[in-house]
Amino acid sequence: RRLAASRSRRVGVDSVVTGNSAPIGVFDSGIGGLTVVHELERQLPNERIIYFGDTARVPYGPKSPATVERYSREIADWLIGEGVKAIVVACNTATAHALPMLRDYVPLPVIGVVEPGARAALRVTRSQVIGVIGTAGTIASGAYVRAIHAIAPAARVVAQPCPLFVPLVEEGWLDRDATRLIAEEYLAPLAEAEVDTIVLGCTHYPLLAPLLGEIAQPGVRLIDSAAETAAETSRTLHEHGLEAPATTARLVHRFVASDAPEHFLRVGQRFLGSAIDRVEKVTLG
Ligand code: DGL
Repeated sequence: RRLAASRSRRVGVDSVVTGNSAPIGVFDSGIGGLTVVHELERQLPNERIIYFGDTARVPYGPKSPATVERYSREIADWLIGEGVKAIVVACNTATAHALPMLRDYVPLPVIGVVEPGARAALRVTRSQVIGVIGTAGTIASGAYVRAIHAIAPAARVVAQPCPLFVPLVEEGWLDRDATRLIAEEYLAPLAEAEVDTIVLGCTHYPLLAPLLGEIAQPGVRLIDSAAETAAETSRTLHEHGLEAPATTARLVHRFVASDAPEHFLRVGQRFLGSAIDRVEKVTLG
Protein backbone atom coordinates (compact mmCIF):
# COMPACT_ATOMS: atom_id res chain seq x y z
CA ARG A 1 0.00 0.00 0.00
CA ARG A 2 2.89 2.31 0.77
CA LEU A 3 4.17 1.73 -2.76
CA ALA A 4 0.77 2.63 -4.24
CA ALA A 5 0.63 5.77 -2.06
CA SER A 6 4.06 6.92 -3.13
CA ARG A 7 3.13 6.20 -6.74
CA SER A 8 -0.06 8.21 -6.45
CA ARG A 9 2.03 11.11 -5.17
CA ARG A 10 4.33 10.68 -8.12
CA VAL A 11 1.41 10.90 -10.51
CA GLY A 12 0.21 14.02 -8.77
CA VAL A 13 -3.17 13.03 -7.37
CA ASP A 14 -4.25 13.07 -3.73
CA SER A 15 -6.00 9.76 -3.80
CA VAL A 16 -6.28 7.21 -6.54
CA VAL A 17 -9.98 6.67 -7.16
CA THR A 18 -10.69 2.99 -7.63
CA GLY A 19 -13.76 0.89 -7.10
CA ASN A 20 -15.90 -1.30 -9.24
CA SER A 21 -18.03 1.46 -10.72
CA ALA A 22 -15.04 3.51 -11.86
CA PRO A 23 -14.42 3.57 -15.62
CA ILE A 24 -11.68 1.74 -17.52
CA GLY A 25 -9.15 4.12 -19.11
CA VAL A 26 -8.23 3.23 -22.69
CA PHE A 27 -5.69 5.12 -24.73
CA ASP A 28 -4.14 5.15 -28.17
CA SER A 29 -2.01 7.53 -30.20
CA GLY A 30 -5.18 8.48 -32.06
CA ILE A 31 -8.40 6.96 -33.25
CA GLY A 32 -7.30 3.40 -34.06
CA GLY A 33 -7.67 2.13 -30.48
CA LEU A 34 -11.42 2.43 -30.88
CA THR A 35 -11.26 -1.07 -32.41
CA VAL A 36 -10.35 -2.23 -28.87
CA VAL A 37 -13.18 -0.12 -27.37
CA HIS A 38 -15.56 -1.89 -29.76
CA GLU A 39 -14.49 -5.29 -28.37
CA LEU A 40 -14.57 -4.05 -24.77
CA GLU A 41 -18.15 -2.88 -25.29
CA ARG A 42 -19.08 -6.26 -26.73
CA GLN A 43 -17.40 -8.38 -24.05
CA LEU A 44 -17.80 -6.08 -21.01
CA PRO A 45 -21.21 -4.43 -21.44
CA ASN A 46 -21.31 -3.22 -17.81
CA GLU A 47 -18.06 -1.27 -17.98
CA ARG A 48 -17.81 2.46 -18.55
CA ILE A 49 -14.86 3.64 -20.64
CA ILE A 50 -12.85 6.83 -20.87
CA TYR A 51 -10.97 6.82 -24.16
CA PHE A 52 -8.06 9.16 -24.76
CA GLY A 53 -6.77 9.55 -28.34
CA ASP A 54 -3.56 11.54 -28.59
CA THR A 55 -4.54 13.07 -31.93
CA ALA A 56 -2.26 16.08 -31.34
CA ARG A 57 0.84 13.86 -31.32
CA VAL A 58 -0.11 10.94 -33.59
CA PRO A 59 1.68 9.05 -35.15
CA TYR A 60 3.69 7.27 -32.45
CA GLY A 61 5.00 4.69 -34.95
CA PRO A 62 8.10 6.61 -36.12
CA LYS A 63 8.90 8.23 -32.72
CA SER A 64 11.66 7.19 -30.31
CA PRO A 65 10.96 4.89 -27.34
CA ALA A 66 11.74 7.75 -24.89
CA THR A 67 9.19 10.07 -26.52
CA VAL A 68 6.48 7.40 -26.63
CA GLU A 69 7.18 6.59 -22.94
CA ARG A 70 6.81 10.26 -22.02
CA TYR A 71 3.53 10.62 -23.92
CA SER A 72 2.21 7.39 -22.38
CA ARG A 73 3.08 8.54 -18.86
CA GLU A 74 1.33 11.87 -19.39
CA ILE A 75 -1.81 10.12 -20.61
CA ALA A 76 -1.70 7.63 -17.70
CA ASP A 77 -1.41 10.54 -15.24
CA TRP A 78 -4.44 12.18 -16.81
CA LEU A 79 -6.52 8.97 -16.79
CA ILE A 80 -5.61 8.30 -13.14
CA GLY A 81 -6.67 11.86 -12.32
CA GLU A 82 -10.05 11.05 -13.93
CA GLY A 83 -10.43 8.12 -11.53
CA VAL A 84 -10.04 5.08 -13.79
CA LYS A 85 -9.71 1.63 -12.16
CA ALA A 86 -7.49 0.07 -14.84
CA ILE A 87 -5.69 1.19 -17.99
CA VAL A 88 -5.80 -0.54 -21.37
CA VAL A 89 -2.98 0.52 -23.69
CA ALA A 90 -4.85 0.08 -26.98
CA CYS A 91 -1.83 1.13 -29.05
CA ASN A 92 0.74 -1.38 -30.22
CA THR A 93 3.56 1.16 -30.37
CA ALA A 94 2.84 2.49 -26.87
CA THR A 95 2.58 -1.09 -25.56
CA ALA A 96 5.85 -2.03 -27.27
CA HIS A 97 7.79 0.94 -25.86
CA ALA A 98 6.05 1.86 -22.61
CA LEU A 99 4.23 -1.13 -21.06
CA PRO A 100 7.01 -2.15 -18.61
CA MET A 101 7.39 1.48 -17.46
CA LEU A 102 3.61 1.92 -17.08
CA ARG A 103 3.24 -1.33 -15.11
CA ASP A 104 5.87 -0.05 -12.69
CA TYR A 105 4.58 3.52 -12.56
CA VAL A 106 0.80 3.11 -12.46
CA PRO A 107 -0.75 1.84 -9.20
CA LEU A 108 -3.53 0.09 -11.16
CA PRO A 109 -3.79 -2.92 -13.46
CA VAL A 110 -2.36 -2.10 -16.91
CA ILE A 111 -3.23 -4.23 -19.94
CA GLY A 112 -1.38 -4.01 -23.27
CA VAL A 113 -2.14 -5.39 -26.73
CA VAL A 114 1.09 -7.24 -27.54
CA GLU A 115 0.88 -10.27 -25.21
CA PRO A 116 -2.78 -10.94 -26.09
CA GLY A 117 -1.90 -10.76 -29.81
CA ALA A 118 1.03 -13.13 -29.35
CA ARG A 119 -1.12 -15.62 -27.44
CA ALA A 120 -3.87 -15.49 -30.06
CA ALA A 121 -1.33 -16.18 -32.84
CA LEU A 122 0.12 -19.15 -31.00
CA ARG A 123 -3.33 -20.60 -30.53
CA VAL A 124 -4.01 -20.73 -34.27
CA THR A 125 -0.61 -21.40 -35.86
CA ARG A 126 0.03 -24.94 -36.97
CA SER A 127 3.48 -24.48 -38.47
CA GLN A 128 4.84 -22.19 -35.68
CA VAL A 129 5.98 -19.80 -38.41
CA ILE A 130 4.33 -16.49 -37.58
CA GLY A 131 4.41 -13.14 -39.35
CA VAL A 132 4.06 -9.90 -37.40
CA ILE A 133 3.34 -6.56 -39.06
CA GLY A 134 3.36 -3.22 -37.24
CA THR A 135 4.73 0.30 -37.17
CA ALA A 136 8.48 0.91 -37.44
CA GLY A 137 8.65 1.45 -33.66
CA THR A 138 6.72 -1.68 -32.74
CA ILE A 139 8.81 -3.91 -34.98
CA ALA A 140 12.14 -2.29 -33.95
CA SER A 141 11.26 -2.81 -30.26
CA GLY A 142 11.16 -6.59 -30.76
CA ALA A 143 8.21 -6.72 -28.34
CA TYR A 144 6.18 -9.23 -30.38
CA VAL A 145 9.16 -11.51 -30.98
CA ARG A 146 9.85 -11.53 -27.22
CA ALA A 147 6.20 -12.12 -26.34
CA ILE A 148 5.92 -15.04 -28.79
CA HIS A 149 9.23 -16.60 -27.73
CA ALA A 150 8.32 -16.26 -24.04
CA ILE A 151 5.53 -18.77 -24.72
CA ALA A 152 6.97 -20.75 -27.65
CA PRO A 153 10.78 -20.47 -27.83
CA ALA A 154 10.95 -22.60 -30.98
CA ALA A 155 8.46 -20.50 -32.99
CA ARG A 156 9.87 -18.67 -36.00
CA VAL A 157 8.81 -15.03 -36.19
CA VAL A 158 9.11 -12.92 -39.33
CA ALA A 159 8.58 -9.28 -38.35
CA GLN A 160 7.86 -6.68 -41.02
CA PRO A 161 7.44 -2.93 -40.47
CA CYS A 162 4.66 -1.42 -42.64
CA PRO A 163 5.02 2.34 -42.00
CA LEU A 164 2.87 3.38 -44.97
CA PHE A 165 -0.25 1.55 -43.77
CA VAL A 166 -1.30 4.04 -41.05
CA PRO A 167 -1.51 7.07 -43.37
CA LEU A 168 -3.32 4.99 -46.00
CA VAL A 169 -5.93 3.89 -43.45
CA GLU A 170 -6.26 7.43 -42.09
CA GLU A 171 -7.05 8.51 -45.66
CA GLY A 172 -9.63 5.76 -45.96
CA TRP A 173 -7.63 4.10 -48.77
CA LEU A 174 -8.64 0.61 -47.71
CA ASP A 175 -9.07 -0.94 -51.14
CA ARG A 176 -7.11 1.21 -53.60
CA ASP A 177 -4.66 -0.13 -56.17
CA ALA A 178 -1.87 1.86 -54.50
CA THR A 179 -2.63 0.25 -51.14
CA ARG A 180 -2.69 -3.20 -52.74
CA LEU A 181 0.72 -2.65 -54.40
CA ILE A 182 2.27 -1.48 -51.12
CA ALA A 183 0.70 -4.36 -49.20
CA GLU A 184 2.00 -6.89 -51.75
CA GLU A 185 5.51 -5.54 -51.26
CA TYR A 186 5.24 -5.61 -47.45
CA LEU A 187 3.79 -9.12 -47.33
CA ALA A 188 6.28 -10.66 -49.82
CA PRO A 189 8.90 -11.63 -47.18
CA LEU A 190 6.15 -13.23 -45.09
CA ALA A 191 4.96 -15.30 -48.05
CA GLU A 192 8.58 -16.24 -48.78
CA ALA A 193 8.98 -17.52 -45.20
CA GLU A 194 5.67 -19.41 -45.57
CA VAL A 195 4.05 -17.99 -42.43
CA ASP A 196 0.65 -19.52 -41.68
CA THR A 197 -0.43 -16.70 -39.33
CA ILE A 198 -0.02 -12.92 -39.46
CA VAL A 199 -0.46 -10.75 -36.38
CA LEU A 200 -1.99 -7.36 -37.26
CA GLY A 201 0.26 -5.58 -34.76
CA CYS A 202 -1.17 -2.09 -35.18
CA THR A 203 -4.52 -0.55 -34.30
CA HIS A 204 -5.18 0.49 -37.90
CA TYR A 205 -4.48 -2.78 -39.67
CA PRO A 206 -7.77 -4.57 -38.91
CA LEU A 207 -9.35 -2.12 -41.36
CA LEU A 208 -7.05 -3.52 -44.06
CA ALA A 209 -7.88 -7.12 -43.15
CA PRO A 210 -10.09 -7.76 -46.22
CA LEU A 211 -7.30 -6.58 -48.56
CA LEU A 212 -4.53 -8.35 -46.63
CA GLY A 213 -6.58 -11.54 -46.61
CA GLU A 214 -6.74 -11.44 -50.42
CA ILE A 215 -3.00 -10.86 -50.76
CA ALA A 216 -1.78 -13.37 -48.17
CA GLN A 217 -1.27 -17.00 -49.23
CA PRO A 218 -4.43 -19.14 -49.05
CA GLY A 219 -5.09 -20.45 -45.55
CA VAL A 220 -3.06 -17.77 -43.75
CA ARG A 221 -4.88 -16.56 -40.61
CA LEU A 222 -4.91 -12.87 -39.69
CA ILE A 223 -4.86 -12.09 -35.97
CA ASP A 224 -6.57 -8.97 -34.62
CA SER A 225 -5.56 -8.62 -30.97
CA ALA A 226 -8.59 -6.46 -30.01
CA ALA A 227 -10.81 -9.40 -29.04
CA GLU A 228 -8.03 -11.09 -27.06
CA THR A 229 -7.16 -7.80 -25.31
CA ALA A 230 -10.77 -7.35 -24.22
CA ALA A 231 -10.78 -10.93 -22.90
CA GLU A 232 -7.56 -10.23 -20.99
CA THR A 233 -9.11 -7.04 -19.56
CA SER A 234 -12.08 -9.07 -18.39
CA ARG A 235 -9.81 -11.64 -16.69
CA THR A 236 -7.72 -8.89 -15.07
CA LEU A 237 -10.75 -7.07 -13.65
CA HIS A 238 -12.06 -10.38 -12.31
CA GLU A 239 -8.71 -11.22 -10.67
CA HIS A 240 -8.63 -7.83 -8.95
CA GLY A 241 -12.31 -7.97 -7.96
CA LEU A 242 -12.90 -4.83 -10.02
CA GLU A 243 -15.79 -5.86 -12.27
CA ALA A 244 -18.59 -3.31 -12.53
CA PRO A 245 -21.97 -4.32 -11.15
CA ALA A 246 -24.49 -5.52 -13.75
CA THR A 247 -26.61 -2.75 -15.21
CA THR A 248 -29.35 -2.46 -17.76
CA ALA A 249 -28.75 1.29 -18.19
CA ARG A 250 -27.18 2.50 -21.43
CA LEU A 251 -23.63 3.37 -20.40
CA VAL A 252 -22.24 6.66 -21.63
CA HIS A 253 -18.55 6.45 -22.45
CA ARG A 254 -16.31 9.51 -22.61
CA PHE A 255 -14.20 10.17 -25.69
CA VAL A 256 -11.34 12.62 -25.40
CA ALA A 257 -8.90 13.80 -28.07
CA SER A 258 -5.85 16.01 -27.63
CA ASP A 259 -6.61 17.81 -30.92
CA ALA A 260 -9.20 18.08 -33.71
CA PRO A 261 -12.17 16.56 -31.86
CA GLU A 262 -14.42 17.07 -34.92
CA HIS A 263 -12.17 14.83 -37.03
CA PHE A 264 -12.20 12.27 -34.23
CA LEU A 265 -15.99 12.34 -34.19
CA ARG A 266 -16.20 11.75 -37.96
CA VAL A 267 -13.50 9.13 -38.41
CA GLY A 268 -14.21 7.47 -35.06
CA GLN A 269 -17.44 6.12 -36.47
CA ARG A 270 -15.48 4.06 -39.01
CA PHE A 271 -13.41 2.44 -36.28
CA LEU A 272 -16.03 2.01 -33.59
CA GLY A 273 -18.93 1.03 -35.78
CA SER A 274 -21.40 2.93 -33.61
CA ALA A 275 -22.17 6.55 -32.95
CA ILE A 276 -20.03 8.73 -30.70
CA ASP A 277 -22.16 11.61 -29.46
CA ARG A 278 -19.45 13.99 -28.29
CA VAL A 279 -15.67 14.32 -28.18
CA GLU A 280 -13.96 16.44 -25.51
CA LYS A 281 -10.64 18.13 -26.10
CA VAL A 282 -7.84 17.89 -23.51
CA THR A 283 -4.32 19.18 -24.17
CA LEU A 284 -1.41 17.39 -22.50
CA GLY A 285 2.31 18.11 -22.27
N1 DGL B 1 -1.72 3.29 -32.69
C1 DGL B 1 -0.51 2.96 -33.40
C2 DGL B 1 -0.19 1.49 -33.20
O1 DGL B 1 -1.05 0.68 -32.88
C3 DGL B 1 -0.61 3.27 -34.87
C4 DGL B 1 -0.65 4.73 -35.19
C5 DGL B 1 0.63 5.46 -34.81
O2 DGL B 1 1.68 5.27 -35.45
O3 DGL B 1 0.56 6.21 -33.85
O4 DGL B 1 0.94 1.11 -33.35
